[in-house]
Parts: sequence; structure tokens; C-alpha cells
Amino acid sequence: MNYGYFDDANKEYVITKPDTPAPWANYLGSPEYGAIISNNAGGYSFVKSGANGRILRYHFNSDDTPGRYIYIRDDETKDYWSASWQPVGKDLSVYKSECHHGTGYTNMKASYAGIDTEVLYYVPMNKTYEVWSMKITNASDRVRKLSAFGYAEFSNEDNYNQDQVNLQYTLFITRTYFKENKILQAINENCTGSPVNGSTGKNRFFAQTGAQVTSYNGNKDSFFGKYHSYGDPKAVIDGKCNNELNYNSNSCGALHSAIELQPGESKVITYLLGSKNEAEADEIIARYQSEDAVCKEVQELKDFWHAKLQNLVVKTPDAAFNSMINIWNAYQCFITFTWSRAASFVYCGERNGYGYRDTVQDIQGIIHLDPEQAADKLRFMLSAQVDNGGGLPLVKFDHNPGHEGTPDDPEYVKETGHPAYRADDALWLFPTVYKYISETGNKSFLDEVIPFSNKGEATVYEHLKRAIQFSEDRLGAHKMPAGLHADWNDCLRLGKAGESSFVAMQLYYGLVILKEFATEKNDTEYVKYLSDLQDELGSIINSECWEDDRYIRGFTEAGQVIGSKQDKEASMWLNPQSWAVISGVASKEQAEKALEKVHEELNTAFGVRVMAPSFKQHAFKGALSLLFNPSTKENGSVFSQTQGWIILAESLMGHGNRAFEYFKESSPASQNDNADVRILEPYVHGQFTESAESPFEGRAHVHWLTGTASTVMVGCVEGILGLRPDPDGLCIAPAIPSEWKEITMEKVFRGCKLNITVKNENGAEGGYKECYLNGVKLEKNYVSATDLKDVNDILLVM
Ligand code: GLC
Repeated sequence: MNYGYFDDANKEYVITKPDTPAPWANYLGSPEYGAIISNNAGGYSFVKSGANGRILRYHFNSDDTPGRYIYIRDDETKDYWSASWQPVGKDLSVYKSECHHGTGYTNMKASYAGIDTEVLYYVPMNKTYEVWSMKITNASDRVRKLSAFGYAEFSNEDNYNQDQVNLQYTLFITRTYFKENKILQAINENCTGSPVNGSTGKNRFFAQTGAQVTSYNGNKDSFFGKYHSYGDPKAVIDGKCNNELNYNSNSCGALHSAIELQPGESKVITYLLGSKNEAEADEIIARYQSEDAVCKEVQELKDFWHAKLQNLVVKTPDAAFNSMINIWNAYQCFITFTWSRAASFVYCGERNGYGYRDTVQDIQGIIHLDPEQAADKLRFMLSAQVDNGGGLPLVKFDHNPGHEGTPDDPEYVKETGHPAYRADDALWLFPTVYKYISETGNKSFLDEVIPFSNKGEATVYEHLKRAIQFSEDRLGAHKMPAGLHADWNDCLRLGKAGESSFVAMQLYYGLVILKEFATEKNDTEYVKYLSDLQDELGSIINSECWEDDRYIRGFTEAGQVIGSKQDKEASMWLNPQSWAVISGVASKEQAEKALEKVHEELNTAFGVRVMAPSFKQHAFKGALSLLFNPSTKENGSVFSQTQGWIILAESLMGHGNRAFEYFKESSPASQNDNADVRILEPYVHGQFTESAESPFEGRAHVHWLTGTASTVMVGCVEGILGLRPDPDGLCIAPAIPSEWKEITMEKVFRGCKLNITVKNENGAEGGYKECYLNGVKLEKNYVSATDLKDVNDILLVM
């Protein structure tokens, strides 16, 4: 069953059945002023931090309440409903609605009892407040007397946790006022001008334009009445608020307007909300005296986002692939890039920084769309590399390059909760730096001088050298990198003595990339050093980690093999197989065998499992995934991020059919008609999908903020579509399903437009026969950047 469809022309996902299996969310604004909204208007808002700057309350782990509610009442029949289906939840045979989640805005449309409403929710570009603009239309043939109630549930304190549980304090620090057309909330009011205990007081406002306020509430209980809930507020039932304000209880902003509409007549009421004082609020309100402001601002958001997404537009025979690559996966990449793991319906915003690996990976997802925005964050992450070459496990939002502690400092550990280095963090820099330089041709990036997080500074090139050194300084018994506190897999605690084959492969790949840079720089001695290292590491990986038909996952601290086919549990792990191919360490024969085994032992209808069978009784010490139920998260689920790597690995081997099979199984859009099983939004990747040993196989979890966005994007763009830039040009090597006869791709590359057509009349799944640039046949499937004109036609015949 599906609950909606992809409207690619407008870059929207349209939810036509509001009783979705979970709240299906969208992101508005940015963490400067962030708002999360579900298809039933549930969600919260915050300034800078979801945990410490909370303005609107949201009950985590609940049934998606409260939210940005607008109630409508027919003042003649006394019937009432809401402009989003919930919270009133009218019978869906008579209540019709559509929720359009778009790029930076959500448009909620509803029709009930001859009244149409359309509410645009958004945060204007670069602004720190939000807008809910409702157009209400009388679609019936008689005059209608109606009431509209806008409701915003303020938190009583910025800190969400205090607001929820420290009631002996937070209930007694806030009060509300009504002025003209707005409710003003004051927190720690007495401290304004004379700070106490760090507080200087706070103000929030909830205002409306477009209609006179008839009645109001600033006190939550007065609006709802005792023993009523979000679905049946007493004020709405009564047709008016009792004008009570809050003093020592829960505050809210509730504004009521009685309106009359002629047949066919529309009215626009715009609600405004933010963390502002009265004067600031009045300034904002003044901007919304006409509807034009709203139209203009929403158009601005569309223009901004659509322009970004325009840098790669592909047309393949698969609609789900097109929707994901052109719109939703791309948009999700920007969201994870911007929001990191800050706030969702699962993350409350308590993490006060960027995870090193997560962010360096997130950057990869947007490089092909906005390389310079990517580069800024990359510089920032390089400045969070310690001078010993390791990455800080957590980079605080207020990171101060050159002055930070490290996991070796008790102060850093106390502040971040991260007690030790992780083995993989800085190694993610290699593919990310390489992708940026290749997309832009900006080789001088390597010479930029960037501080280390603790002390000193060096060129990007030197930063990369130190990342290699970090691993080299921490080798285990087989001379492979130690697994330390974790590698990519947060649940593998291999310590200083245990070793990770995945990190060994990452290191190998790092050596390949750095050798290319060093060669370019004529750093001959270092090239020799890297070459030797690479040879040595390659043979260690292939002698110690290759076992007949698979690569093992590593060694425990006690020297026991992890992921041997002899093991009763977790005998096959995905990442060492995909990364053996991506890093280039596997021979063709090993690669073919390992990939075949992956398909045999790990593939399911919902994607490829991170490992199998799940741990139940035979986990080693340090296998933290045992904490999870079988087929869940790191314990044998389809861990979504890893799908990108296996898609890429299959593509690199020219296995287009297999690569696409893995895309299809795990892609949200491909599951649009399976929403009751998948549960999560069909337009975004989640962190993982429950697998075979779960009674809920196929159910996906942890929406939006996941590294999946970037890895699957890379897997599809560099893998399936085969767009692989290098520092001097672009290699085009698609690996597509053999039944695809043609694909086209419009790509902006180094300021030039590429119109690429791939013809596949012969039903190939990889490889190529001929390649043409502007009608001239090329030697291979490689376009040199120096041969590009402003607009180019490229033809690749498979
Ligand atoms: C989560 C973490 C990520 C980690 C992954 C696997 O997605 O955010 O850092 O690599 O789990 O454990």
C-alpha cells in the first residue's frame, strides 16, 4: 500500500493518505532556527540546539504530538477539525487532505465540510523565525461563519529535558502576555538586565496577521480544559478562548479569529513564531501585512534548493532511481550535511558537535552538487584533526582550532563523553579530499594551510600524511591497524591489540590516493615509502584476512579471528568484501568470489545485511552489537549506509545488474508501495532496516540523519551512473541494468555543462565500446577537462 507519490516536476513528495504508518517528516530552516514538521503538523522548533534551544515542545516516542496546529470550527454547526488531519482526526471518508513536503517548506491542504484550507509552513531563507500561512476558502455555496485557532505549545525552558521533567522549577519561571495580535512569553522575566544564574531571561512570540484576534490563551490548560487533549480543546469546542494567560503553569500561544466567508471567498491568516522580544516580533509581523511576502519567500526557498539540485539531472528508465538521485537523496544529503545528527524525531539534539567520520562522509554526498560548500566544511574538519593525525571523535559545534583538547585529555573526555580515538576517523579524509579535488580540479587545495585541532598547522597534504602516520603508529600483531575504541562500526571495540580489516582496507585506499598526490608533487622519496607500505599492507591483508571466499572482519584483542566462515555467528561481514573492491586490494578473482558470497549469504529482499548470522550466544568480548536484538542495527540488520558501498563495489566490477538489484531492494522510493512494511518515509533513507531474524523484517528506522544519504548517493553517481571525476577530467563508466537501453545525464562540471547520453542497445551491464566528445571519438571513456567547451555533448556507447 502507498500513502503518496513523488511529484518530481515540483520536487515534492505528496502524501495523499494522512494516516501514515509513522510521522513522515520534513526539515525547515537550518540549525540556526530549525523546525521539524510531520505530515500531521507534529514536530518542534529550536534555536541553535534541539536540546538547549527548544522553543516548541514535542513529546518524543509519542504519537507525534504536539505540533503546529490550526483548528477550524464551523460556528453554526459547532463541528470542528484541524488543517492537518491530526490532531482532531476526522473520518477520512469525508476529510480529504494532501501534505506536500517540498524543499524547505511543507504545504498542508485539506477539504472538509465545504471549507478548503492550505497551510504553508516554512522558515524564510536565512531568518530565525517561522511562518505558518493559511489560506482558507469557502468552497460551499452559502455564507460561512467560522473560527480559526492557531496553537503553538511553547516549552517552558530552552532545555528540553528540564522542560519535560524538572517541573518543580520550569513551571514557575514563565508567564505570557497578550498584546494586539500576539502572545508574548517571558522566561525568567526578572533577570532581564540583571542576570541570575546565567539567565538573562528569554522571550518568545506567537502572532497572527490577516484577521483580528477575537480571543486568546497564553495558558495551555485554559485552552484545552482539564481532561481534554490535542484532539478536542475546550476552547475550540466552545468557539472561543477564555483569554487566560499563564502564570506558574504551562504556557502556550493560542489565537482565535472569528471570520465570515462568502461563497468562493478566501482569506489568508498568517501565524508567526520565534524566540524574539516584543520589538523584534513587531518588526517581523510588519513584513506580513500582505500575502505577497509569503509567496515571495516560498519561491525564494524553491529557487535556492532547486538550483542546487540542478547540477546533476539524470533520466533513467527507473522512476524511483530518478526521484532519489535528482531530488530526495540529494536533498537528504544537504540535510545531513547541514544538520549532522542534531535533531529529528529520534535525535533530540543532545549531541553537542559533529561526529568526525559522519561529517567527513556527509561532505561526500554534496561534492558533485556544491563542491565549494563541501570544501568549507572539509577545511573545518581538517582543522579538527589532531596533530598526531587522528580525528577528534566529536568536534564541538563551537570548535576552536588550535586550542582543543584530545581524547588523551580528561577535560575533552569529560566534555564530549568520548574516551578514546577511533581507528577510522581521519582515514575518511582521503576519499573526501580526493573527490573534492577531482570535482573541481583545484589541486592547490593540497597546499592550503590549515590548523590542527590541538596545536600547530600544516598543509592539507601534510594533514593527509599524518593520517597515515596515525594508523602506522597503532598497528597490531599482524601489522594491521588496531581497531581502537571503534572503527566505522561503533559496536566493534577491538582495542589497541585487536585489528580491523576494514580499517586496513581504508588505510590501503588512503595510500593509493596519497601516492597519486605525492606523484603529482614529485615527492619521490615519499612515493617510494607509500608504495612499499602499500605493497606490504596489501599482502598482509590478502594473506591474513582472505579466507577462501571472503575477507574476515579482523582480530580480537586475544587474537581470535572475527568473521571466519567457521564461526557459528557473524561468519560473514559485508564491509570487508565491498571495501576490498573499493580499495583495490582484492584481485579480480577474490573480488568476484567475495561479491558472490555476499549475494549468497547476506542479500535479502530489503538489501544486504551488515553481517550474518546475528550474534546471540557466540559474541566475542568487544562485540557490542550483542546488546541489540538480532537483525537489528549493527547486529545483523540491513545497515543502510553499507548499501552504498556494495552498490559501488558491484559497479566497479561492471556488475550493473547486481548493483541495481541492491539499489532497488534498499531504496526508499522503490518501496513506496510497501509503506506498511517499511514504515519510514518513502522519500528518505533510514539508518537501518530490520532483517531476517526479526518478526518485522523490512521495517526501517532512524529517519533522515544518517550517513546512508551520502554513501548511497556516491554508490549511485560514481557507481551505477559511472561519473568518476579525477583531478584532470572525468571518466564515464556506467554499470547499469542490462535492460536499460539509454540513460541521459546533465551535469555541471567545472563550470561547463555536460549533456551525456549513454546508449546501451546491446544490453550490456558494464564496459563500453565507444565514447565521443562533441562528435569527436575519444581514445577511451575519459574526458579531459582541458577539452571541454561551455556546453558539451558526450556519447558513450556500451
Ligand atoms: C551510526 C553512527 C556512525 C557509525 C554507524 C555504524 O550510523 O552515526 O558513526 O559509523 O552507526 O556503527
